[in-house]
Amino acid sequence: MTPHDHIPVMCDEVIKLLNPQKNKTYADATFGQGGYSREILSKTNCCVVGIDRDKEAIKYAEIIKKKFKSKFFFKNERFSNIKNIFKNNKVDGITFDLGMSNTQLSSKTRGFSFSNNGSLDMRMGMQKDDELTAKKIINGYSEKQLFYIFRKYGEERNSQKISKAIVSARKNKTITSTYELSRIISNVNKFRNQKKNPSTKIFQALRIFINEELLELESALKSCLKILNKKSKIIVVSFHSLEDRIVKNFFRENSGYSANNYKHLPNLERTSFKPFLKLITKKAIKPSIEEIRQNPRARSAKLRAAEVL
Ligand SMILES: C[S@@+](CC[C@H](N)C(=O)[O-])C[C@H]1O[C@@H](n2cnc3c(N)ncnc32)[C@H](O)[C@@H]1O
Repeated sequence: MTPHDHIPVMCDEVIKLLNPQKNKTYADATFGQGGYSREILSKTNCCVVGIDRDKEAIKYAEIIKKKFKSKFFFKNERFSNIKNIFKNNKVDGITFDLGMSNTQLSSKTRGFSFSNNGSLDMRMGMQKDDELTAKKIINGYSEKQLFYIFRKYGEERNSQKISKAIVSARKNKTITSTYELSRIISNVNKFRNQKKNPSTKIFQALRIFINEELLELESALKSCLKILNKKSKIIVVSFHSLEDRIVKNFFRENSGYSANNYKHLPNLERTSFKPFLKLITKKAIKPSIEEIRQNPRARSAKLRAAEVL
């Protein structure tokens, strides 16, 4: 039996908002180790489809399948493909718990964490179209390209200096491990007095770029409007401002939350704007102090939810 060592973030809040009902179908778009799926299925006699691009998730899905049988299905796919996954049935609620699972973070070989010395990989999925690795980027991209990735997806202040240091280091030797990369970053960021590890933002930037995480999220949110039944909930837990901004803007734009958003439209169009969503969380919900104490990974989580009209 595979141990579940990933503590699902804000699980109580997610399930309360989702409010699973008998005979309805729910999508857990970021299955991971299946924390949300298990909880939804335990609440009532409903059906859950778990989705995860990572093959590692399959073994956790098999455990849930054994217990819940025909009430649970798993798709080893990107969630941007959700419209295809649900081309024949509609869904009554969807949850996203973005970021990495503990399976990925604690892997010594996949290179997601600067705390483990692994090879520079960082691919969440290993499908045919997932060919770009951190090693290819770090050793093959120009200084300018590295700078762009670090600035855009990591919002790292020292992006320029770090890109330069990487390009200089790789002249002597191919950079192959997370520790080697971390050492280069730490040498640049050594005078910074910060609570976070000096490599945090660069590792985040590489992971987002390699896995096209922001594009995935934008595309999946749009598709949700096509596959969800009326009164269904979309619930998203995000972990950094780039993700949260996408969710916040998507919810606001589709709910007509801010009348100012439509001031630029001529009167006729403004009055005919028909919102698709109703905001459930006007402000993002944050985890309790107690949850953060028990699961420090939850500290940067933000939950936003909306209902389909
Ligand atoms: C934070 S974990 C989810 C943990 C889960 N809630 C649990 O309780 O175990 C995020 C998961 O989403 C998956 N994921 C991230 N982006 C994805 C995408 N675009 N398509 C499918 N799965 C994705 C990752 O592989 C990872 O397993």
